Amino acid sequence: MLSRRPENDEDTGDVSPPPPTLAMMQSADMADVVAVERAAYASGWPATAFERELTQNAMARYIVLRDGATGRIAGFGGLWLMVDEAHVVTVAVLPEERRKGYGSILVAGLLAVAIEHEMALATLEVRVSNDAARALYRDFGFYEVGMRKRYYSDNHEDAVIMTTEDIQGDAYRKRLARLAAQLAGRYPGIDLVPAGLT
Ligand SMILES: CC(C)(COP(=O)(O)OP(=O)(O)OC[C@H]1O[C@@H](n2cnc3c(N)ncnc32)[C@H](O)[C@@H]1OP(=O)(O)O)[C@@H](O)C(=O)NCCC(=O)NCCS
Repeated sequence: MLSRRPENDEDTGDVSPPPPTLAMMQSADMADVVAVERAAYASGWPATAFERELTQNAMARYIVLRDGATGRIAGFGGLWLMVDEAHVVTVAVLPEERRKGYGSILVAGLLAVAIEHEMALATLEVRVSNDAARALYRDFGFYEVGMRKRYYSDNHEDAVIMTTEDIQGDAYRKRLARLAAQLAGRYPGIDLVPAGLT
């Protein structure tokens, strides 16, 4: 009899956990999203601000990331579709879930939304002191194009303005494909297009 090579995890007993999932944010997610927001930012938005974004801002698109094993919301992100520019408004991951690639998965999901909506580029502002976010965005090809002095009202910190090249172009799509392959290596089976994309 031919010996059978292990074809799947059942054969080896080595069961990899289900990958995290992305989905468009729903009103029902609000309590969990606000909890992530509170944990991630010193001065965060109240639930009413998210509700308003979801129900009254036609430009806004928000996504959530759920842990594959528990289904718990571990992060979220949002952007505004402004003519041909996707403006990333927020990306946040629970402190205890960081450095697992979740921030990258969320940025990839936001870019999938932007590409689907035929945006030409993505932009954002980030605190000068936020090394983690600046490094994450640089991975996704955002580069620094300027500063907004004393942009943040809580501590008057400067904002760095970052933008991408044409996100519909070949070079950018290749970059995204490379990052997607890295994330798929870490989380086999991951889908970087948020479920229910609108
Ligand atoms: C920024 C943030 C979303 C990153 O989330 P994350 O899940 O830790 O991100 P990832 O695991 O995908 O990290 C991707 C890359 O970003 C960089 N990075 C992330 N955290 C970093 C840190 N603390 N220091 C330096 N680089 C960091 C690294 O290059 C990292 O890749 P690596 O882990 O292979 O070295 C998270 O730190 C957060 O929620 N911060 C508070 C909210 C915030 O500041 N949001 C951004 C402003 S809109």
